[in-house]
Amino acid sequence: MKPFKCTSGFALGESVRPEISKLREMIEEARLGGGLKAIEKQHSRGKLTARERLELLFDGGSYVELDMLVTHRATEFGMDKKKAFGDGVVTSFGKVGGRNVVGIAQDFTFMGGSLGEMHAAKIVKATQLALSVGAPVVFMNDSGGARIQEGVDSLKGYGDVFYMNVHASGVIPQIAAIMGPCAGGAVYSPALMDFIIMVEGTSFMFITGPRVVKAAVGEEVDEHGLGGAVVHASKSGVAHFVAKDDKEAVGLIKKLLSYLPSNNMEQPPRVSVGDSPDREDATLNQLVPEDPQKPYDMKEVINRVVDSGTFLEVHKDYARNAVVGFARLNGWVVGVVANQPNYLSGALDINASDKISRFVRFLDAFNIPIVTFMDVPGFIPGTYQEHNGIIRHGAKIIYAYAEATVPKLTVITRKAYGGSYIAMGSRHLGADFVAAWPTAEIAVMGPKGAAEIIWRKELAAAKSDEERKELLDKLVKEYKERIANPYVAASRGYVDTVIEPSQTRPVLVKALETLLTKREVRIRTPPKKHGNMPV
Ligand code: HXC
Repeated sequence: MKPFKCTSGFALGESVRPEISKLREMIEEARLGGGLKAIEKQHSRGKLTARERLELLFDGGSYVELDMLVTHRATEFGMDKKKAFGDGVVTSFGKVGGRNVVGIAQDFTFMGGSLGEMHAAKIVKATQLALSVGAPVVFMNDSGGARIQEGVDSLKGYGDVFYMNVHASGVIPQIAAIMGPCAGGAVYSPALMDFIIMVEGTSFMFITGPRVVKAAVGEEVDEHGLGGAVVHASKSGVAHFVAKDDKEAVGLIKKLLSYLPSNNMEQPPRVSVGDSPDREDATLNQLVPEDPQKPYDMKEVINRVVDSGTFLEVHKDYARNAVVGFARLNGWVVGVVANQPNYLSGALDINASDKISRFVRFLDAFNIPIVTFMDVPGFIPGTYQEHNGIIRHGAKIIYAYAEATVPKLTVITRKAYGGSYIAMGSRHLGADFVAAWPTAEIAVMGPKGAAEIIWRKELAAAKSDEERKELLDKLVKEYKERIANPYVAASRGYVDTVIEPSQTRPVLVKALETLLTKREVRIRTPPKKHGNMPV
């Protein structure tokens, strides 16, 4: 990594008025943040400085910095002697992919990027700007948390930031990158934003650090074991993406932004990758195994259907029984939601419910159509799931789909059983277009379980195990033919069309392009402030 070089780009030897010269000196000083030594320390840890990160984010490395000359007002605990222009955070605006973006980057080189009164005021002001012009906010976190010397003014500052995050929610996309420490209540700003990207090895997030954890509950764990990138991406679900370093993190932010509209009044940008909308894929006809107990990879279905190479998976390592992410269909951005038969048979559990419902809410808030690929055998049974609230978590999926007014397209590839069928974007929750593959089994439960209940007496009367098995096989076949297929649902109009899997892409593109002009049609309900989503 290149050593930090403070350069203002002013021509050497140029004669200037003293006022201008003073300004230049101040800018030079401001750009040094907490000083060269602290910058070197930052680099030695494999981290970039706040301004280097912003340079990577903005087109051509160019942005306008706001409030560069802000300083704190604290005097206690030697704070009067500790001052730096900018107060440990860089706020800015510029273009990313030609569109306006507001960038906020905490500067760890000054007092560990800790947040005091003025530091917070800068963040709030920048977020307000983003909100008023309808531009996404990118917040790069690298901070020791509340500035201890500023006491309640720091806490007030956090409160103000959270308040802005909440009010910006659903109006502009908010993306947090964690590129260093993020501890204590500070974690709630990223948590209130739409997406969190964590850098592996240099970032961590936790409410209480390892020392307090040890003292309070006797557990020994280090920072990364407690709240590192991998932990949050796979176990807690706090992080949506993991990057190997700062550069990759900024690359991910830009990629993510390319799928998003600037605000909730705009459509996401359409980009063609040259994949024909009429392309059929014969491999899909062979993908679902004949044995319904056998898994297959739903990501292969997704990748074969959407525009080539456009699937950006979100929450890749969390709740892998569900798959969510952004993609394009004939250039239009869609949000993909799917069950993953390859993991826990694609059954829904608490974590998958949270993952799906939050993503569906985001898509609906930002005018992104939802394409659901359904192969769901049900909700995972057992005391763990029941006692931890699968009922209230599962309800979130139903709420999110039912409330979403963006175009909703659903493809049923195989299992569509019971309540999980209803929940996963069924016609009954307002899907606008439902296609089923001939392999679809839409029923209250799986054919074997159903046959064992309906023909319990007949099966009990069997004289031997062999006779019972023979009878059961026959009854399962009968159940499948009569009920567990796509044709009963198609005869009622719950499924719009039964298609060959190979035709999925052209059919979806046509349906999507028809639905792009969908008007928001809601059931007539009395006016309300907002619903009471089972959060
Ligand atoms: C003031 C802070 C600070 C803080 C770090 N610094 N955190 N100053 N308030 N919260 C200063 C250090 O004193 C040091 O100053 C410089 O930043 C760099 O810190 P180091 O400790 O040298 O860096 P490092 O070894 O990388 O450790 C980073 C760290 C550690 C893990 C973040 O500094 C730390 O544990 N800090 C305290 C974290 C904390 O408890 N924060 C409060 C969380 S509670 P000098 O002058 O020596 O360079 C919270 C509540 C929010 O945030 C509530 C919201 C509702």
